[in-house]
Amino acid sequence: MAKNYNIPRGTADILPAEIGRWRQIEDEARRVFGVYGFSEIRTPLFEETELFARSMGQTSDVVQKQMLNLAAQNPNQPGVELSGLSLRPEGTAAVVRSYIQNNLDRKESRTKLFYLGAMFRGERPQKGRLRQFHQIGAEVIGPQTTSPYLDAEMIALSLEILRNCGVANPKLKLNSLGTPEDKENSSKQLRERLQPAIVELCEDCQSRFERNIFRVLDCKKKTCNAVVDKLQLGYAHLSEESRQYFEAVKTALVSLGVDFEESPRLVRGLDYYTHTVFEISSSSLGSQDALGAGGRYNNLVRDLGGSAVDAVGFALGIERIILATEGQAGISPANLEAFIVALDENTMKKAFVLSQLLRQNGVSADISYRWNSALKNQLNQANKLGAKRVLILGPDELAKNAITIKDMNSGEQQVVSLDQVVSHLKK
Ligand code: HAM
Repeated sequence: MAKNYNIPRGTADILPAEIGRWRQIEDEARRVFGVYGFSEIRTPLFEETELFARSMGQTSDVVQKQMLNLAAQNPNQPGVELSGLSLRPEGTAAVVRSYIQNNLDRKESRTKLFYLGAMFRGERPQKGRLRQFHQIGAEVIGPQTTSPYLDAEMIALSLEILRNCGVANPKLKLNSLGTPEDKENSSKQLRERLQPAIVELCEDCQSRFERNIFRVLDCKKKTCNAVVDKLQLGYAHLSEESRQYFEAVKTALVSLGVDFEESPRLVRGLDYYTHTVFEISSSSLGSQDALGAGGRYNNLVRDLGGSAVDAVGFALGIERIILATEGQAGISPANLEAFIVALDENTMKKAFVLSQLLRQNGVSADISYRWNSALKNQLNQANKLGAKRVLILGPDELAKNAITIKDMNSGEQQVVSLDQVVSHLKK
């Protein structure tokens, strides 16, 4: 018996019945990005593994546990060298790589880019957590672009896309990590304060204590939560300048009427962030409740070999937007304008050419190739396809250089000259 092939774990087919909703979300994102002056960028689905390790941080969970590495499959095919490459787990690193490689900093003082596409992480799949998922992302990169207004604008932009896609009550959490020096200070302070409670932390957090102490703060386990609660985190680790910057971001958000919750525990899992970080969630999602996240990352471009320019960005998960708005209808596929039925082999030849002529003139058309099946069966097929009209070509019609057009709604029929079919259908 032939083997049945199954879709890989943690991936999903997007079937024709779902594609309308996907298109609606993608189109809306593109429209909103256009209004905000962003241009689209498309980078490869895989990059050097080291690029991701350098940007997200060697100790981040994504780099430590979730990278999907490519390996040379065939040692006898030395021309294909895939080792050292990984499927992209996110878009930021690749966009920054491209920004540097293509000298985009020389082209404009401020580069506003957006992307839509598949990302890959070797996670344990569950509802809302996939190994191949899709992001809508945006990055603004440029010298001296650090502005609390821009941070607030990026947050407002991500909320606008979510709301326009039907997400009700998205919840925004906001935090500031400060400058790299502030981060260093707060990591020292945290280490000192958490040291006495280290045995109360879960196994994961005990290892995070060593390699990425900030991640202890957003651990979802109750025991770790209780330990962190006792710390009564505030903003003491921030320098005066960082604190003022954070205040200005909040003021700008208030001026736009954006509600937020200050959350000193929001640290984000990726190393590149400085200053503003945010996460947007929805209560209609389960444990994987983050619809999107982002923040400022002022040192990444320089760390990856580029000039000292500032940057801020975010990414939203399309699958999670769809989950959070389940039940909302997508755009329905365009109805078929014409379904062509031929009644014998001879008329089939003419009908075939007509189907192409209609399509070339922008009339959506399909054809029954089964000219030897009963007319009733062919009409059934037209019904299933939701055709507005059926065009019937039999020997009688062909003799008159005409075709019968049946309106599937009213049932009315009329005979139209073959030379006028296109203009008749386009009316
Ligand atoms: P992230 O928080 O890792 O950030 O991912 C952003 C969003 O992608 C998440 O909030 C979630 O909606 C979706 N997502 C992530 N992992 C999965 C998964 N396994 N399955 C389904 N959806 C998922 C970033 O990726 C940063 N690059 C965001 C950014 C851009 N920061 C600055 N610029």
